[in-house]
Amino acid sequence: MPANPICVALDTPDLDRAVALARSLKPHAGYMKVGMEFFYAHGIQGYAKVAGVGLPIFLDLKLHDIPNTVASAMKSLMRLEPKPVIVNVHATGGLDMMKAAADAVAGQANLIAVTVLTSLSDDDIWAAGFETAKDTQTHARALAELSQRAGLDGVVCSPHDLTGIRHDLGRDFLTVVPGIRPADAATQDQKRVATPAEAMASGADILVVGRAITGSADPARAAQDILAGLHAG
Ligand code: C5P
Repeated sequence: MPANPICVALDTPDLDRAVALARSLKPHAGYMKVGMEFFYAHGIQGYAKVAGVGLPIFLDLKLHDIPNTVASAMKSLMRLEPKPVIVNVHATGGLDMMKAAADAVAGQANLIAVTVLTSLSDDDIWAAGFETAKDTQTHARALAELSQRAGLDGVVCSPHDLTGIRHDLGRDFLTVVPGIRPADAATQDQKRVATPAEAMASGADILVVGRAITGSADPARAAQDILAGLHAG
């Protein structure tokens, strides 16, 4: 895996913009993240154009369905060229679904599970029916443990959940962490955020950064600044 932990979220439905961003950010990032916003607009051909720029791809489609459907969808994703290095499912899809996904991926990519979205607070998860969950951190730890039991390689989690997950699941379990905001940046729709340095200090392996880079007037400079901040820390 690349030494540079920055994974830039190419959240745009504009193909030319996504490719231009990928090209300009290639020297300053370790990964590019292709998510629903781009993939639903441009599909396999769009994916191939962005992946063709040359950085490893995290394909963030967050599959969440019955085991048979997720396994079959994962098999289709494993036929993409070049293959994504990271793919994911929602841990709330359950143990059997995650096991089926892992069988389908069969070691061809890192398979990780979304625990509790960084846009959700304690009140949000209780309102969504997870009333017995003590709080988002405890819920994320339980989902991370379930993901490891299913044989997954790691999780997507908030910076706030990292300490507990590292404590429970060890150093080798991959942690991919969105909700990253430089100290002066607006949180926007994210609720459980941290700075890049705070997330790394808590044990993040990969930092997912979207709008703090792509929404900047100079995305390459914004990525350079984040990286420089990490090295200074
Ligand atoms: O712009 P921002 O840095 O908030 O983008 C975060 C990215 O990470 C988005 O692409 C979002 O879909 C993704 N993500 C997230 N929270 C998760 C999982 C993925 O924000 N739990």
